[in-house]
Amino acid sequence: MKLIITKQEVERKVKWLAGQISRDFAGREVLLVGVLKGAFIFMADLARRMKTPVKVDFVCLASYGSGTRSSGRVKITKDLETSVRGKNVLIVEDIIDTGITAQYLFHRLRSRRPRSLRTVALLDKPGRRRVSFRADYVGFTIEDHFVVGYGLDCNEEYRNLPGIYVVK
Ligand code: PRP
Repeated sequence: MKLIITKQEVERKVKWLAGQISRDFAGREVLLVGVLKGAFIFMADLARRMKTPVKVDFVCLASYGSGTRSSGRVKITKDLETSVRGKNVLIVEDIIDTGITAQYLFHRLRSRRPRSLRTVALLDKPGRRRVSFRADYVGFTIEDHFVVGYGLDCNEEYRNLPGIYVVK
């Protein structure tokens, strides 16, 4: 495995993202919606860096149909416990790849009438998009490599690595 983003670079970026988001929300409460499982570490660090009041909740999504995400069909396997209606909601993703997951979740949550709805992604692979989706806040834009660490896995391994690695 090759290290592409160090622990220190991740920490700096998370702090910077939290600063941008906190400034944009200017003291208003934000509901962070983490997409399990990959976002759990990023969300924990982001939440601790935020300067505005935050609440947290989680969703879990899965692909169905052909059995792969490339089928483009997604369903919610664990929904939020909180109502988003009238709230400032921030979807927290570890990575946006084809964009299918983020776009699906965005549309589902938007239909529940939040006051505002934005997305933050630590990693973005725009070269892999199959649907048009842009996160409001992006940490690192990366090439089309399979990456692990900081929440991202390969067969459930490596989520606990503090940096981001390319699997060769
Ligand atoms: C990853 C990641 C995003 C999604 C992005 O989740 O956490 O949710 O894929 O891919 P997309 O843009 O092509 O839809 P994954 O299904 O690997 O599950 P995990 O978070 O539990 O590891």
